[in-house]
Amino acid sequence: MTGKLVVVSNRIPTGATPSGGLVVAVHDALTRSGGLWVGAHPDEGTPDQDGLTEIASGDYTRLAFHLTPEEYDSYYLGFANSVLWPLCHGRVDLVDIERGFEETYLAVNARVARLLADQIGEGDIVWVHDYHFLPLASELRKLGITARIGFFLHIPFPPLGALSTLPSPDDFAEWLSAYDLVGLQTRRDTASCLEMFRADPRAEFMTDGSVKFRDRSVSVRSFPIGIDAESFAEAAAVEGPDAELGIDMHEDLVIGVDRLDYSKGLPNRFRAFGKFLDSRAGTGRRASLLQIAPPTRERVAAYRAIRTELEEIAGRLNGEHAELDWTPIRYIHRGVERDTLARLHRRARACLVTSLADGMNLVAKEYVAAQDPEDPGVLILSRFAGAAEDMTEALLVNPYDIDETSEAIETAITMPLEERRRRHAHSLGVVHATNVTDWAQSFVSCLKTCTPTLDYRRAQ
Ligand code: ADP
Ligand code: G6P
Repeated sequence: MTGKLVVVSNRIPTGATPSGGLVVAVHDALTRSGGLWVGAHPDEGTPDQDGLTEIASGDYTRLAFHLTPEEYDSYYLGFANSVLWPLCHGRVDLVDIERGFEETYLAVNARVARLLADQIGEGDIVWVHDYHFLPLASELRKLGITARIGFFLHIPFPPLGALSTLPSPDDFAEWLSAYDLVGLQTRRDTASCLEMFRADPRAEFMTDGSVKFRDRSVSVRSFPIGIDAESFAEAAAVEGPDAELGIDMHEDLVIGVDRLDYSKGLPNRFRAFGKFLDSRAGTGRRASLLQIAPPTRERVAAYRAIRTELEEIAGRLNGEHAELDWTPIRYIHRGVERDTLARLHRRARACLVTSLADGMNLVAKEYVAAQDPEDPGVLILSRFAGAAEDMTEALLVNPYDIDETSEAIETAITMPLEERRRRHAHSLGVVHATNVTDWAQSFVSCLKTCTPTLDYRRAQ
């Protein structure tokens, strides 16, 4: 008998039409299969409240656990976003280990496991998402849960050396080995994860490719996440006056859309755009960068610092280059409706994705999906975004190299139509081959059988 799908993630959608990578993808999967989604209550740091609260339902049930203000600080802002996030994004210098962070992280995972255990019935399968819940399966196993449990890491897998920054480095492999399936974004992440197991004397490699760890065996595979390209393209193609979007079509528009996170390489991006403006000085040709960067995790010092740095660079560059009727960098520090975002993407001649490290980067896929295939814009993509593993016909750049990125902007804006079409067709093939529905279905079906199978990407 097949039971229901039980999903756990820290972030859970609260509205009827969720937006954003993880929530859109999982919403799609659960709408299809029905089931249960458990996540943190959207009211951050609510006072003590035990148990799960139903927050919304429809095709599936959504239940929320509550975090106390102390838990919010130590589990979410602390261990998840001041230790694991910088560690996985190659910023060991930003790792901030405080006594109590890991303890609270483990305590929240243990509590969520207890709440979840009551919801798991016979034949159910459990799908856990992201770095907030690495130890969840191990806690569920302690409670006697034998269901199949899968884990998907949306962010990069940390390099082996970086793991020793953790207060208890050996825990990482132990936590992951309690799952039946560990899914990662890229082949490179899979290699890093296997490298970790290879270096661990407690692990043994089986002939079917799985890893035996103590008395359990875990499969490790890549499942590159994607988007619902059709609906994004539909929204992008909606006609409307450009003035409504605040666009002057006499200018070349370059777009960037990212949470204001230090992993997204925004200061380098602005500097590269400044160099590009320098190279155009005196030619009379105008180009604008529209950067949409909503705030995120602002109580963490590194996020406040990146905001200050970016505002300083934008102010300086605008001071140097702006004219009475033209502001070259428009920087919007808030979210924008998805439909508006899609229309803006379609009108932009280039999109800048300059992450210094990134699990996949869905914005890259959204930009490609939004283009008119007859007259597409050009994606400038960091080599360090997971998306670059397959989107090899984007203009790939090293975001640390300001000159290279600046030259790529010029190349993108002046690229002949035929080359734009060729590059775009390849990238669009990748976007379609990794659509979000296939991503979720293939993870779930692999979790049910857990035998290493062929890559789920459709042949192009
Ligand atoms: P990350 O998961 O690190 O934030 P991704 O690029 O993978 O990065 O996913 C971000 C998602 O959030 C995308 O779907 C993107 O469209 C959406 N998003 C990012 N910035 C904004 C914004 N300002 N307004 C609305 N949606 C945004
Ligand atoms: C990334 C992470 C997600 C997270 C999202 C937004 O995509 O992989 O787990 O939900 O960023 O961050 P937030 O801290 O606001 O949930």
